[in-house]
Amino acid sequence: MNQMISRRAVVRVPSGPESVETVEAPVAGPGPKEILVRIAAAAVNPVDLGVAGGVFHRLGMVHQPHWTGLGWDFAGTVEAAGPGAGLPAGTRVAGFLDGFDRDHGSHAEHLVVPAANVAVVPDGVDLVAAATVPLNATAAAHAVDLLGEAPSDARRLLVTGAAGAVGAYAAVLAQDRGWQVTGLARAADEPFVRGLGADFTAEPGRGWDAVADAGALQETALRAVRDGGRFVGVQPAARLPEERGITGEVVFARPDGQLLAGLLARVAAGELPARVHAVVPLDQAADAYRAMAEGGIRGRIVLVP
Ligand SMILES: NC(=O)c1ccc[n+]([C@@H]2O[C@H](COP(=O)([O-])OP(=O)(O)OC[C@H]3O[C@@H](n4cnc5c(N)ncnc54)[C@H](OP(=O)(O)O)[C@@H]3O)[C@@H](O)[C@H]2O)c1
Repeated sequence: MNQMISRRAVVRVPSGPESVETVEAPVAGPGPKEILVRIAAAAVNPVDLGVAGGVFHRLGMVHQPHWTGLGWDFAGTVEAAGPGAGLPAGTRVAGFLDGFDRDHGSHAEHLVVPAANVAVVPDGVDLVAAATVPLNATAAAHAVDLLGEAPSDARRLLVTGAAGAVGAYAAVLAQDRGWQVTGLARAADEPFVRGLGADFTAEPGRGWDAVADAGALQETALRAVRDGGRFVGVQPAARLPEERGITGEVVFARPDGQLLAGLLARVAAGELPARVHAVVPLDQAADAYRAMAEGGIRGRIVLVP
């Protein structure tokens, strides 16, 4: 296959939304077990704001000579498949890219990824909705795996940021493992949180058996765990020191097509949310990042090439 030219959103010198631009660059064809995806939709996540703001450059995690590619989540269709990929052209897929040190992200027209990292999007889930699911549902599933089954005598779990993307998924998935979930969110989010089957609180409080800190409240969330309880964080680059006998763990979401297929099936069944705040053309990525940075958004802003 000939190399094609494709647009992507990047930052050269990261300094926030103003530094986001789109460039054209060649995309290679898929290698063995890889697919070339024509992206239909790509959600903007908090991590993208971090990359565009230079957070990970300052941590020494990015070494790109020209620009850094933006975007983790995507949904689209397979345009070409390498040998052994097992996904024919035209298949609707979703997934996410991990890692920071790359010149190409999902905020783009095309992407080459390992076929094992994506899931087929079920009928009945459109690609814009599907693009909001992979990273955050996977992170929530990892967080709940770290918590494991709720002990019969210590089931009280606080999920912070329960009206957010990771938190809403974690609030639902943790109930499957026997946790009695209370979601911490803003007062206006109470109906949404209760709609997830969770109890609601607007204050972190104290004495929880476990806290899944999907809202990245960090020290505030750790203080809410009882002595000897459990804490699962979402900031691998800012892991908290352990205290008071609390077991602390941190999520680092990794692409897993099989896991994602199960999560998308639950979206299709209406058991997990897929919330779209707005759809914005890829060429206006900087505007989307600016809106995201202003905060208070429920559901994702989704870029469409
Ligand atoms: N480690 C990993 O692999 C991984 C993967 C995915 C995401 N993450 C991280 O997980 C975090 C959450 O991501 P997300 O996409 O779920 O973000 P999100 O959709 O913005 O959700 C965060 C939620 O927390 C709420 N919140 C913040 N402070 C609060 C407070 N004091 N009281 C009540 N609610 C509060 C926010 O409300 P407002 O909007 O009103 O502030 C928002 O609803 C981010 O830090 C992200 O980088 C980590």
